Amino acid sequence: MKKIKIPDTMTTVVLDSYSGADALRIEQRPVPRPGRNEVLVKVAFAPINPSDLATLTGYYGFKNPTPIVPGGEGSGEVVSAGPGVMASYFLGKNVACTGWGKGGGVWSEYVVKSVKGGVLPLNKSLSFEQGAMSIINPLTANAFMDISKKGGHKTILLTAAASSLGQKVNRLGRNEGIQIVNVVRRDTQVELLKAQGADIVLNSNDEGFEEQLHNTCHQTNTRLAFDAVAGPLTNQLLKAMPQDSKVTVFSALSRQAVQASPDLLIFENKMVDSFWLGPWMSKQNFVKIMLLWKRTQKQIPTHLKSDIRKIYPLQEAKEAIDDYTGQMTGGKILLRMS
Ligand SMILES: NC(=O)c1ccc[n+]([C@@H]2O[C@H](COP(=O)([O-])OP(=O)(O)OC[C@H]3O[C@@H](n4cnc5c(N)ncnc54)[C@H](OP(=O)(O)O)[C@@H]3O)[C@@H](O)[C@H]2O)c1
Repeated sequence: MKKIKIPDTMTTVVLDSYSGADALRIEQRPVPRPGRNEVLVKVAFAPINPSDLATLTGYYGFKNPTPIVPGGEGSGEVVSAGPGVMASYFLGKNVACTGWGKGGGVWSEYVVKSVKGGVLPLNKSLSFEQGAMSIINPLTANAFMDISKKGGHKTILLTAAASSLGQKVNRLGRNEGIQIVNVVRRDTQVELLKAQGADIVLNSNDEGFEEQLHNTCHQTNTRLAFDAVAGPLTNQLLKAMPQDSKVTVFSALSRQAVQASPDLLIFENKMVDSFWLGPWMSKQNFVKIMLLWKRTQKQIPTHLKSDIRKIYPLQEAKEAIDDYTGQMTGGKILLRMS
């Protein structure tokens, strides 16, 4: 392994309060040192995900006291290891890293991560760009397939379906024989998904959407929906699906409370539950996670590839966030650390 010189200080993005991107600033900090069972990652790239936007406004599931370093996932190289066999194993390896747990977010030139869940080894053949986006959406897309198959669903519904995740779910679904009823909110998103081979794409802003949705769900016997939007859309999905259906809410892009009419829940035996990747993973056994990670990495060059719209230097994180919030569909925005 080539010896990498580790500097004393590094550039980091810091969030001072949960009041949005305006509360971000760039700070020089000492490079942290890894402790037992920890590694130091020289971060290469990190995407901006909807969960990062939620973090900036205190809307996400983790809300540590500020100041915090944001950034939910990224990629890089392990350049130093603390004591412990597992930490030594990772030394010199390319890894994907999570922004949760000890060490905090990854919008930083260096980050210390625990080898127990903070880093995952990346195939050498994967670029750091794709590696940076290999945890959250690819594993979620595979989790949706797993949940659908276990429930015996041959068709599932997905909202915000033109998202990077939605495109992955569509590609995996075609590969694994699960049909997707896609719901989007713009005509350009209908065209985008159809051009990629999706059969069913409905626009929630179309006149007659509710009737189209009802007919489609009954014709295809769609009884499971994954909903990223929440608010009134959740109730529209519940209403449209046949008896004994379920909406799994996995995000709240609308920032509105989930709506569910009691009559649908009581008299039609419909349900609403939720999905969050971290808790779902922690319910799987270690072998399953490792196999899932191996399969996911194999699929990244094909079904789980993420389009990239633009790469910004870390110092321009605010501009990058502005750009992303102005146009979320059509490829990810990445931060390049150095
Ligand atoms: N629960 C979990 O564990 C988990 C894991 C992975 C992903 N997710 C969620 O999955 C979703 C997709 O993530 P991603 O990274 O693939 O996103 P992305 O590529 O950045 O795209 C976001 C998509 O959401 C659409 N959107 C934004 N606000 C919307 C609204 N109010 N109503 C309808 N559509 C809206 C955007 O459409 P426009 O261009 O029209 O704005 C865009 O197509 C996110 O909500 C994310 O939080 C959750």
